[in-house]
Amino acid sequence: MNGKYRLELEEKYKGKISVNPNLNRQLVSFQANKGLPFFRWFKYKEGFSAPLVNYLIDQTPAHRREILLDPFSGSGAALFCAREKGLKSVGIEVLPVGLFIIKTRLDAEKVNIDDLIKISKKIKNIDWLEFEQAGNYGFTHLNITRGAFPGDTEKFLNGFRNYCYREVTDPIIKELLLFALFSILETISFTRKDEQYLRWDDRANKNGGNAKFNKGEIYSFKEALSEKLDEIIFDISIVKREDKERKELTLYDDSILYRLPVLAENSIDLVITSPPYCNRYDYTRTYALELAFLGVNNEALKEFRQSQLTSTVENREKFEQLKDFYLKKNRADDFDRIFQSFTSQNALAEILTILESYKIDNKLNNSTIVRMVKNYFFEMCLVIFEMFRVIKKDGIVYMVNDNVRYEVRRSRSI
Ligand SMILES: C[S@@+](CC[C@H](N)C(=O)[O-])C[C@H]1O[C@@H](n2cnc3c(N)ncnc32)[C@H](O)[C@@H]1O
Repeated sequence: MNGKYRLELEEKYKGKISVNPNLNRQLVSFQANKGLPFFRWFKYKEGFSAPLVNYLIDQTPAHRREILLDPFSGSGAALFCAREKGLKSVGIEVLPVGLFIIKTRLDAEKVNIDDLIKISKKIKNIDWLEFEQAGNYGFTHLNITRGAFPGDTEKFLNGFRNYCYREVTDPIIKELLLFALFSILETISFTRKDEQYLRWDDRANKNGGNAKFNKGEIYSFKEALSEKLDEIIFDISIVKREDKERKELTLYDDSILYRLPVLAENSIDLVITSPPYCNRYDYTRTYALELAFLGVNNEALKEFRQSQLTSTVENREKFEQLKDFYLKKNRADDFDRIFQSFTSQNALAEILTILESYKIDNKLNNSTIVRMVKNYFFEMCLVIFEMFRVIKKDGIVYMVNDNVRYEVRRSRSI
């Protein structure tokens, strides 16, 4: 397939591209967080590795190590690494999963650790079945999470939730106890997060006799919760001992597409970020258990899916909405510039033409992929325009992304 414009683009930037051997798989992979205090609390599989963020901050000239922005904050790895290194940080995240992780980690700094230790000892001996009917704070399932927990696990889970909401008065301790449960939902369930979706173990009888899958050991509620609480207490104790002063962390519960355009220009020194890749992975499905736990219902789930930067075939076009938004902010000219920049990318147009032809030849695994790729790059064009606006003149942007193949490869029959 002729790649004229892509070759031209590569030629244009050849002198600026280099391979950095320090950025090896070990440093970049989420696995690098294994065992690290805080990062081990909740397995946000798309999260940055802390060593990578630390490496990038260390590479940044000292005068640009003041205010960091991560507009796709996720679990907040970039924000917290920056905070530990004495930078102020600003984050934007639209999904309640990441927001809850960040908020809890921040609140954990303020907890009365002795009280937390006391209550965690006490609850190890509680029979959660006794609290199962003691309130209305049970887990409300989404359509796609029903049947996720084996045996009595859901009863224990509901008992624990009722206990936390009814009996625990200290809001931070309550939050941390609930967070411990939130962090073990996958471990105690029949599900496993598998890139594009939530995969179900055969023991749940949800696969209708299709693909066989056994996720291995499913942990008991009591054991998993007790281990998680010990881990949380241990990590907080270390931080409490350090007791150093940390700079401000500002978190916006919003979509980047509407928050970035209203951040002050020339206000950021450094961006470290990783947007969703254009790979059809749907966070609202992979994190369905956690979203249900946080009270998201079926309707809200659909809204969250649409609020994500376009990266699944289900995302509808946001063009008119965004245009309207810029108009209302008296920034119609900027919107035109973003659109012009998007339409003048010949290499992208080339790729879209190829994908269109694959669509006609039935070579795509979903016919909506062309729309997804187009909208992904339009939205990213807007994001990059706005990042350029908010960053100071010689500020630095580190962005992690990946490439994807959409063409279906058919095996040849002999
Ligand atoms: C690759 S993850 C980033 C993970 C992050 N670097 C970390 O360390 O956890 C991308 C994140 O972007 C968020 N996201 C997607 N669309 C967004 C939007 N429109 N506004 C804000 N955040 C969005 C997703 O919810 C997800 O948490």
